[in-house]
Amino acid sequence: MARLNIDQLVEIAAREIRSNPKLDDVKDQKWHSDQFAVYLVWQGTEPLLPGRSYAFISPGTRINCSVSSLKFRLDPENKRQIAASTLNHLEIGYCNIELDHSIDYAPASADRNLGTFSLLDSLTGKKVATGLIQFGLRRATNIRWQEVEIDQAARAVAKQQKPYVLWFTGLSGSGKSTIASLLEKKLHALGHHTYLLDGDNVRHGLCRDLGFTDADRVENIRRISETARLFVDAGLIVIVSFISPFTTERRMARDLFKDEEFSEIYVNTPLEICEKRDPKGLYRKARRGEIKNFTGLDSPYEIPERADIILNGGKEEPEILADQVLDYLKQGKFI
Ligand code: ADX
Repeated sequence: MARLNIDQLVEIAAREIRSNPKLDDVKDQKWHSDQFAVYLVWQGTEPLLPGRSYAFISPGTRINCSVSSLKFRLDPENKRQIAASTLNHLEIGYCNIELDHSIDYAPASADRNLGTFSLLDSLTGKKVATGLIQFGLRRATNIRWQEVEIDQAARAVAKQQKPYVLWFTGLSGSGKSTIASLLEKKLHALGHHTYLLDGDNVRHGLCRDLGFTDADRVENIRRISETARLFVDAGLIVIVSFISPFTTERRMARDLFKDEEFSEIYVNTPLEICEKRDPKGLYRKARRGEIKNFTGLDSPYEIPERADIILNGGKEEPEILADQVLDYLKQGKFI
């Protein structure tokens, strides 16, 4: 069978929705939600990454969204549901999506125009998918934000500090964790309340189910960003030390915080030096083919273009680099 084009694939998705419109929702005229069950026809050249932030565009709406769970891929020929963890170019998938906040919408079975949306790559603005809303997820309207009386400001006053995130990014072996740990010691000595979130450590607990595929790294950084957000809300100075190789997820992390709460620190150590240091012997293993998807070798590291601080990890001692960050914090009156 000839390969189907986008319009034909969208029609197949529309037919699936018409044959199972979820009539309860169609009768319910209060169409307002931030989570939806949708069909996506993937048009991106890069595969879908669940958890990654994409721009959701529908008539009158532009908002951040992410795919929270991909249920299956649909075979357009025999309509069979196939287990999938991603979608490639011109594949149809059925998934749940989450938006940053609620919107008015209509299921595609009730209003095809309002129920149709596009997803754009949030960095390049290129269209990556056409989507059709099957229905809004009810749990979105059943879970409300619980207001609490002691807030971030109150906790910060008690700790006599400004809550802050210092987000270290760089290759494995670049020196991130050593510098981060020295910095934490210095802040602690000054009486600050800190917490260090480190890639290797967090992967022993909260993220122990995740590996190093692109999709798992996206989910790893999403969880860490949310954890850092809770710790900042608790009034802490949070030091985050993860490879965090993708620009999109680093930006997602930044977008969770106010401008004056977040700095990105790029530990710029050339790959050759990281590989020569190889403190955990992982580069050697990766070169022997014993580790797949190793950052800098067969998995990409996207160099930060707008880091707030760039540390020369190939030349300077960690002690000096930690002091550079401390000076930056003092000069900006963050501490
Ligand atoms: S991230 O890409 O998802 O941000 P993270 O910082 O949590 O990575 O974990 C990186 C650490 O895991 C490295 O410092 C290294 O010790 C270890 N590691 C094991 N396998 C890999 C791999 N394939 N790529 C990179 N680091 C790996």
